[in-house]
Amino acid sequence: MDSTLAQTELNDSLKAKNDLFYNDVIAGLRSTPKRLNSKYFYDANGDKLFQELMNSPEYYPTDCELEIFSEKTAELGEAIIADGDAFDLIELGAGDATKSTYLLKYLLEKKADFTYLPIDISENVISYLNISLPVTLPGIKITGLNGEYFDMLTKAASISSKRKVVLFLGSNIGNMPVNDAIEFCRELRKHLSEGDMALIGMDLKKDPKIVLAAYNDKGGITKRFNLNLLERINRELNSNFDISKFDHYPTYDPESGACKSYLISLQDQQVTINGKETISFLKDEYIYMEISQKFTIMQTDQIAINAGFVPVGQFFDTKKWFIDAIWMAA
Ligand code: AVJ
Repeated sequence: MDSTLAQTELNDSLKAKNDLFYNDVIAGLRSTPKRLNSKYFYDANGDKLFQELMNSPEYYPTDCELEIFSEKTAELGEAIIADGDAFDLIELGAGDATKSTYLLKYLLEKKADFTYLPIDISENVISYLNISLPVTLPGIKITGLNGEYFDMLTKAASISSKRKVVLFLGSNIGNMPVNDAIEFCRELRKHLSEGDMALIGMDLKKDPKIVLAAYNDKGGITKRFNLNLLERINRELNSNFDISKFDHYPTYDPESGACKSYLISLQDQQVTINGKETISFLKDEYIYMEISQKFTIMQTDQIAINAGFVPVGQFFDTKKWFIDAIWMAA
């Protein structure tokens, strides 16, 4: 392709992404109550803060799932290999793929015939994986896909008609309220064929104090993680949030299992987005930032069945704080 043409296309796609971000931000801040979508937490700086958070003593989900992937690698691997036919291993929201690397290594050792297709909303993450994984895992076939999950699942299906195994780890599914999670799994099912599999990581209900502490870490990383979205809006959408005028407020409701976080405006204030849209905040007004839903084991089975899957395997850490469930598309 002509290089100036390629450059134009790149600029167009960047502009389209920026427009989408802008439209979502404006719609969210113009609605009552105000909200922002947590999927935008993950720019380069957000990725770094999330890495930091995963290393904080309070944030347990990563440790629990890492324990499952490192201690039960063979069981997970064999469940996925199934009859041994070739497959595409698709990962939604791959991040740095630390957990999946255990599985990938096992599959390579077993000479399983598979291609790894990590999907992530972060360009940063995908280019990193495309470069680093072939070094750490020699012989791996990898095609990183940068974009929205279902767009990229459609793309994956168009690339190959092999059996699909979809990883959705880290309780990313918890970033939706339960009904949306079911809807999401139905949509996932529609992108799959009978016999395809999903391996879903879900954070379980537990002592409410432990849950809340994970989203209210003493080091204040979660706070910075939330505030980073305001800074990202400043950086990418020519805006002027003063982050010192917002506080982080996490909550956990043991009854519903909803762990939610808010940013609270510390005073009456106005913010200008893109140098033209003025958003007014009252003192104590909140922006709803994120939900991190916690589930019962029974709920995880119900979600599967509701969405057209059959639960075929359950893997837990020793504390039983987290589940990696294997579902088969029915
Ligand atoms: C990456 C979405 C699973 O909800 O626990 C961590 C993100 N937010 N601390 C989660 C997050 C605040 C995380 N997920």
